[in-house]
Amino acid sequence: MEKINTIIEPFRIKSVHPIKMNSYEERVAILKKADYNLFKIKAKDVIIDLLTDSGTGAMSSEQWAGIMRGDESYAGSTSYELFENTIKDIFGFEYVIPTHQGRAAERILFSIMCNEDDVIPSNAHFDTTRANIEYQGSIALDLIPDSYNDTQKYFPFKGDMDIDKLEKAIAYHGSSKIPLIMLTVTNNSGGGQPVSMENIKKVSIIAKAHNIPFYIDACRFAENAYFIKTRNDKYANIEIKDIVKEMFSYADGCTMSAKKDGIANIGGFLCTNNSDLAIQKKNLLILTEGFPTYGGLAGRDLEAISIGLKEVLDFDYLHYRIRSTSYLGDKISLAGVPIMQPPGGHAIYIDAKLFLPHLDVSTYPGQALACELYLRGGIRTSEIGSFMFGKFDKVSGKEIYSDKELVRLAIPRRTYTQSHIDYVVEKIIEVYENRKSITGLKITKQPAILRHFTSSLTKID
Ligand code: F0G
Repeated sequence: MEKINTIIEPFRIKSVHPIKMNSYEERVAILKKADYNLFKIKAKDVIIDLLTDSGTGAMSSEQWAGIMRGDESYAGSTSYELFENTIKDIFGFEYVIPTHQGRAAERILFSIMCNEDDVIPSNAHFDTTRANIEYQGSIALDLIPDSYNDTQKYFPFKGDMDIDKLEKAIAYHGSSKIPLIMLTVTNNSGGGQPVSMENIKKVSIIAKAHNIPFYIDACRFAENAYFIKTRNDKYANIEIKDIVKEMFSYADGCTMSAKKDGIANIGGFLCTNNSDLAIQKKNLLILTEGFPTYGGLAGRDLEAISIGLKEVLDFDYLHYRIRSTSYLGDKISLAGVPIMQPPGGHAIYIDAKLFLPHLDVSTYPGQALACELYLRGGIRTSEIGSFMFGKFDKVSGKEIYSDKELVRLAIPRRTYTQSHIDYVVEKIIEVYENRKSITGLKITKQPAILRHFTSSLTKID
């Protein structure tokens, strides 16, 4: 490959969305009004929005052309035909079920496969996945190797599942209690870290040996394939699309949020090779999402997703994508900011425990840091720590905390330029230099599930 030192955005910008600047004083009032919960802030009051990479990317001119071509027929739309063929071709599964987003696919999958007290092991379940499992009365089990929890240690495939822990979990609970095993690529709650091909293969072998179906949470499948290509010499000369084919050849099905590596603003799907399950899933789909040839999506969305799924496999796009994420990570890390190492695919995760050692976990250091980044720079991020994954245990009357306190800077696809990121770097360093003045938070109101979306907090002075 030709050597290029400056990685440029491999696109020209055709349409822009204005950003409104605001002042520190305005942001103090906005944050207070939002109860120190960044989900309650209006998008127009945010300067750089790194809350999520989900549905926030910029579509290509080809995708917009597809929007015009969308066939809005209720049954048998040609856009569905394109959608189904594209997904079968890329992922290799027999049955494709469209859903309005990833969590709808999860809900259908878990409500058919899980019973009360069942156990669903994964490398790490993300928030909605965990909530959908727990909603069925089942248990979501995260099986990351203990050493990978150290944010400062480098492992090339830090998203791998701990095989030993998986075997022990099967021996302990019994395979009849495990309706499926999941693997999230890349591991979102654990730092956007990739899963190796060897790990996917090993999980598949164990699942088969125990007759347990194996599903992949495929949200960031192309970014995962890029890491396999660039971190495992064996795959250096294999095309991304062939790496993806191999990854999914080991699984029985997948759930997907097309809002991530589908580079679409909405959409998802569920795939399986099991014809009986496909029938059950389609029946449930009709009940809640829609007819199986649109599943809660417009024909135009099916077009945009089909095109996005092909564009995301382009090596130049992925190279730019992963390099621009690590550009942010490397710059702040060089200034001393503790981040999850190595930088992930879709996001940089700041270790808030190390950033704010003076704050106790009971005062939500991740959320406190996320609030400070908004105050100083109008930068919206998300906390992935005890505010998101912690829980108030009614039995013991105590709060159960997460083992990591992270702040995620998720990079929307093809949306921000290098100077936007340079601004983010400048503001993070400013916050880091003033970190000792940051105080903690306490929750004043919270719902029973997924509390981070709607809870209210207040500052502890
Ligand atoms: N699985 C993973 C690994 C995810 O990251 C998400 C969403 C989902 C499933 C659910 O998909 O949003 O389409 O229903 N993650 C977003 C995020 C929201 O910010 O990381 P969805």
